[in-house]
Amino acid sequence: MTKGIFITLEGPDGAGKTTVLQRLVPRLEALGKQVTTTREPGGVAIAEDIRSVILDPQNTAMDDKTELLLYIAARRQHLQERILPALESGQLLLVDRFIDSSVAYQGFGRGLDTEAIGWLNQYVTDGLKPDLTLYFDIDVKEGLARISRNSTRDIDRLDMETLEMHERVRTGYLAILEKESDRIVKIDASQSLEEVVEAAFTVIYDRFLKNKT
Ligand code: TYD
Repeated sequence: MTKGIFITLEGPDGAGKTTVLQRLVPRLEALGKQVTTTREPGGVAIAEDIRSVILDPQNTAMDDKTELLLYIAARRQHLQERILPALESGQLLLVDRFIDSSVAYQGFGRGLDTEAIGWLNQYVTDGLKPDLTLYFDIDVKEGLARISRNSTRDIDRLDMETLEMHERVRTGYLAILEKESDRIVKIDASQSLEEVVEAAFTVIYDRFLKNKT
Protein backbone atom coordinates (compact mmCIF):
# COMPACT_ATOMS: atom_id res chain seq x y z
CA MET A 1 0.00 0.00 0.00
CA THR A 2 1.12 3.53 -0.72
CA LYS A 3 1.70 6.05 2.07
CA GLY A 4 1.12 9.28 0.18
CA ILE A 5 -2.00 11.17 -0.85
CA PHE A 6 -2.90 10.98 -4.53
CA ILE A 7 -4.91 13.90 -5.92
CA THR A 8 -5.70 14.54 -9.56
CA LEU A 9 -6.99 17.71 -11.22
CA GLU A 10 -9.30 17.41 -14.19
CA GLY A 11 -11.44 19.59 -16.39
CA PRO A 12 -12.09 20.89 -19.88
CA ASP A 13 -9.44 23.06 -21.51
CA GLY A 14 -9.28 26.57 -20.09
CA ALA A 15 -10.74 25.67 -16.68
CA GLY A 16 -7.56 27.00 -15.05
CA LYS A 17 -6.60 23.83 -13.21
CA THR A 18 -2.88 24.19 -13.96
CA THR A 19 -2.74 27.66 -12.39
CA VAL A 20 -4.78 26.46 -9.42
CA LEU A 21 -2.39 23.54 -8.96
CA GLN A 22 0.59 25.90 -8.77
CA ARG A 23 -1.22 28.10 -6.22
CA LEU A 24 -2.10 25.14 -4.02
CA VAL A 25 1.52 24.09 -3.50
CA PRO A 26 2.69 26.87 -1.12
CA ARG A 27 -0.53 26.62 0.89
CA LEU A 28 -0.13 22.89 1.41
CA GLU A 29 3.59 23.22 2.13
CA ALA A 30 2.78 25.84 4.76
CA LEU A 31 0.96 23.06 6.62
CA GLY A 32 4.15 21.00 6.63
CA LYS A 33 3.21 18.69 3.76
CA GLN A 34 5.79 17.51 1.24
CA VAL A 35 4.17 18.24 -2.10
CA THR A 36 5.05 16.83 -5.53
CA THR A 37 3.40 18.08 -8.72
CA THR A 38 3.38 16.53 -12.14
CA ARG A 39 1.28 16.33 -15.28
CA GLU A 40 -0.09 14.05 -17.98
CA PRO A 41 0.64 13.45 -20.72
CA GLY A 42 4.27 13.83 -19.68
CA GLY A 43 5.93 14.28 -16.33
CA VAL A 44 8.97 12.13 -17.17
CA ALA A 45 11.29 12.13 -20.19
CA ILE A 46 9.77 9.23 -22.16
CA ALA A 47 6.21 10.44 -21.52
CA GLU A 48 7.15 14.02 -22.49
CA ASP A 49 8.48 12.63 -25.80
CA ILE A 50 5.14 10.87 -26.32
CA ARG A 51 3.36 14.14 -25.39
CA SER A 52 5.11 16.05 -28.13
CA VAL A 53 4.00 13.46 -30.71
CA ILE A 54 0.39 13.60 -29.46
CA LEU A 55 0.09 17.37 -29.32
CA ASP A 56 2.08 18.28 -32.44
CA PRO A 57 -0.34 20.39 -34.57
CA GLN A 58 1.24 18.86 -37.69
CA ASN A 59 0.05 15.36 -36.75
CA THR A 60 -3.39 15.85 -38.27
CA ALA A 61 -3.31 12.27 -39.64
CA MET A 62 -3.36 10.74 -36.15
CA ASP A 63 -5.97 8.03 -35.76
CA ASP A 64 -8.19 8.27 -32.66
CA LYS A 65 -7.16 4.86 -31.32
CA THR A 66 -3.49 5.69 -31.91
CA GLU A 67 -4.04 8.85 -29.87
CA LEU A 68 -5.70 6.90 -27.06
CA LEU A 69 -2.89 4.34 -26.90
CA LEU A 70 -0.23 7.05 -26.84
CA TYR A 71 -1.91 8.71 -23.84
CA ILE A 72 -2.17 5.31 -22.19
CA ALA A 73 1.50 4.50 -22.88
CA ALA A 74 2.59 7.86 -21.49
CA ARG A 75 0.46 7.15 -18.39
CA ARG A 76 2.17 3.83 -17.74
CA GLN A 77 5.66 5.30 -17.88
CA HIS A 78 4.62 8.24 -15.71
CA LEU A 79 3.05 5.92 -13.14
CA GLN A 80 6.15 3.77 -12.85
CA GLU A 81 8.72 6.52 -12.80
CA ARG A 82 6.94 9.26 -10.97
CA ILE A 83 3.55 8.56 -9.39
CA LEU A 84 4.38 5.35 -7.50
CA PRO A 85 7.76 6.54 -6.16
CA ALA A 86 6.17 9.80 -4.93
CA LEU A 87 3.35 7.95 -3.19
CA GLU A 88 5.70 5.38 -1.70
CA SER A 89 7.80 8.16 -0.18
CA GLY A 90 4.69 9.66 1.44
CA GLN A 91 4.29 12.75 -0.72
CA LEU A 92 1.09 14.68 -1.24
CA LEU A 93 0.98 14.26 -5.00
CA LEU A 94 -0.93 16.65 -7.27
CA VAL A 95 -1.31 15.38 -10.84
CA ASP A 96 -2.60 17.58 -13.65
CA ARG A 97 -4.86 15.13 -15.59
CA PHE A 98 -5.02 11.33 -15.25
CA ILE A 99 -7.42 8.46 -16.09
CA ASP A 100 -10.55 10.61 -16.35
CA SER A 101 -9.05 12.66 -19.20
CA SER A 102 -8.92 9.51 -21.36
CA VAL A 103 -12.58 8.75 -20.67
CA ALA A 104 -13.70 12.37 -21.21
CA TYR A 105 -11.55 13.22 -24.27
CA GLN A 106 -11.02 9.92 -26.11
CA GLY A 107 -14.26 8.31 -24.89
CA PHE A 108 -16.90 11.02 -24.88
CA GLY A 109 -14.98 13.51 -27.06
CA ARG A 110 -13.76 11.17 -29.80
CA GLY A 111 -16.50 8.58 -29.37
CA LEU A 112 -14.25 5.62 -28.55
CA ASP A 113 -15.61 2.77 -26.43
CA THR A 114 -15.54 3.95 -22.80
CA GLU A 115 -15.56 0.37 -21.54
CA ALA A 116 -12.35 -0.38 -23.47
CA ILE A 117 -10.82 2.82 -22.11
CA GLY A 118 -11.80 1.83 -18.58
CA TRP A 119 -10.10 -1.49 -19.07
CA LEU A 120 -6.94 0.08 -20.56
CA ASN A 121 -6.78 2.56 -17.67
CA GLN A 122 -7.15 -0.28 -15.18
CA TYR A 123 -4.48 -2.31 -16.99
CA VAL A 124 -1.81 0.41 -17.09
CA THR A 125 -2.43 1.68 -13.57
CA ASP A 126 -2.76 -1.82 -12.05
CA GLY A 127 -6.02 -0.53 -10.65
CA LEU A 128 -4.57 2.48 -8.83
CA LYS A 129 -7.13 5.27 -8.53
CA PRO A 130 -6.69 8.76 -7.10
CA ASP A 131 -7.73 9.28 -3.47
CA LEU A 132 -9.43 12.47 -4.66
CA THR A 133 -10.12 14.10 -8.01
CA LEU A 134 -10.89 17.81 -8.26
CA TYR A 135 -13.02 18.44 -11.32
CA PHE A 136 -12.87 22.08 -12.46
CA ASP A 137 -16.10 22.76 -14.29
CA ILE A 138 -16.45 25.59 -16.76
CA ASP A 139 -18.71 26.49 -19.64
CA VAL A 140 -16.88 25.34 -22.78
CA LYS A 141 -17.07 28.67 -24.61
CA GLU A 142 -15.80 30.52 -21.53
CA GLY A 143 -12.92 28.03 -21.17
CA LEU A 144 -11.85 28.39 -24.78
CA ALA A 145 -12.13 32.19 -24.56
CA ARG A 146 -9.83 32.12 -21.52
CA ILE A 147 -7.24 30.14 -23.49
CA SER A 148 -7.18 32.65 -26.31
CA ARG A 149 -7.07 35.59 -23.83
CA ASN A 150 -4.50 34.33 -21.33
CA SER A 151 -2.48 31.53 -22.72
CA THR A 152 1.22 32.06 -23.09
CA ARG A 153 1.70 28.62 -24.61
CA ASP A 154 1.31 27.67 -28.27
CA ILE A 155 -1.99 26.29 -29.51
CA ASP A 156 -1.78 22.47 -29.55
CA ARG A 157 -3.56 19.85 -31.67
CA LEU A 158 -6.29 19.33 -29.05
CA ASP A 159 -7.02 23.05 -28.76
CA MET A 160 -7.78 23.06 -32.47
CA GLU A 161 -10.72 20.69 -31.98
CA THR A 162 -14.29 21.81 -32.60
CA LEU A 163 -16.57 23.35 -30.03
CA GLU A 164 -18.76 20.23 -30.27
CA MET A 165 -15.84 18.02 -29.28
CA HIS A 166 -15.13 20.20 -26.24
CA GLU A 167 -18.86 20.12 -25.33
CA ARG A 168 -18.79 16.31 -25.43
CA VAL A 169 -15.69 16.32 -23.21
CA ARG A 170 -17.52 18.37 -20.59
CA THR A 171 -20.58 16.12 -20.82
CA GLY A 172 -18.20 13.19 -20.28
CA TYR A 173 -16.72 14.71 -17.16
CA LEU A 174 -20.18 15.35 -15.73
CA ALA A 175 -21.11 11.71 -16.42
CA ILE A 176 -17.96 10.41 -14.66
CA LEU A 177 -18.68 12.76 -11.75
CA GLU A 178 -22.15 11.31 -11.36
CA LYS A 179 -20.80 7.75 -11.37
CA GLU A 180 -17.93 8.35 -8.96
CA SER A 181 -19.18 11.07 -6.68
CA ASP A 182 -17.17 9.76 -3.70
CA ARG A 183 -13.86 10.21 -5.47
CA ILE A 184 -14.62 13.27 -7.60
CA VAL A 185 -15.54 16.72 -6.28
CA LYS A 186 -16.81 19.39 -8.64
CA ILE A 187 -15.47 22.91 -8.31
CA ASP A 188 -17.08 25.86 -10.06
CA ALA A 189 -14.18 27.18 -12.14
CA SER A 190 -16.12 30.20 -13.40
CA GLN A 191 -15.38 31.95 -10.08
CA SER A 192 -12.35 34.21 -9.61
CA LEU A 193 -8.97 32.45 -9.40
CA GLU A 194 -8.77 33.21 -5.64
CA GLU A 195 -12.18 31.65 -5.03
CA VAL A 196 -11.34 28.57 -7.08
CA VAL A 197 -8.03 28.08 -5.22
CA GLU A 198 -9.83 28.52 -1.89
CA ALA A 199 -12.51 25.99 -2.84
CA ALA A 200 -9.90 23.44 -3.96
CA PHE A 201 -7.77 23.97 -0.86
CA THR A 202 -10.80 23.54 1.42
CA VAL A 203 -11.74 20.21 -0.17
CA ILE A 204 -8.19 18.88 0.27
CA TYR A 205 -7.91 20.25 3.80
CA ASP A 206 -11.23 18.85 4.96
CA ARG A 207 -10.59 15.44 3.48
CA PHE A 208 -6.97 14.81 4.40
CA LEU A 209 -5.45 17.42 6.69
CA LYS A 210 -8.03 18.54 9.22
CA ASN A 211 -7.06 17.40 12.72
CA LYS A 212 -3.80 16.02 11.31
CA THR A 213 -1.60 19.12 11.13
P1 TYD B 1 -2.87 19.60 -20.78
O1 TYD B 1 -1.42 19.75 -20.84
O2 TYD B 1 -3.49 19.38 -19.44
O3 TYD B 1 -3.53 20.85 -21.49
P2 TYD B 1 -4.29 22.05 -20.82
O4 TYD B 1 -3.28 22.79 -20.00
O5 TYD B 1 -4.81 22.79 -22.01
O6 TYD B 1 -5.39 21.45 -19.99
O7 TYD B 1 -3.32 18.40 -21.72
C1 TYD B 1 -3.10 18.47 -23.09
C2 TYD B 1 -4.29 17.98 -23.84
O8 TYD B 1 -4.35 16.55 -23.78
C3 TYD B 1 -5.61 18.49 -23.32
O9 TYD B 1 -6.33 19.05 -24.40
C4 TYD B 1 -6.32 17.26 -22.83
C5 TYD B 1 -5.69 16.14 -23.60
N1 TYD B 1 -5.72 14.81 -22.96
C6 TYD B 1 -6.48 13.79 -23.54
O10 TYD B 1 -7.15 14.01 -24.56
N2 TYD B 1 -6.44 12.53 -23.00
C7 TYD B 1 -5.69 12.23 -21.90
O11 TYD B 1 -5.69 11.06 -21.42
C8 TYD B 1 -4.90 13.29 -21.29
C9 TYD B 1 -4.04 13.00 -20.09
C10 TYD B 1 -4.94 14.56 -21.87
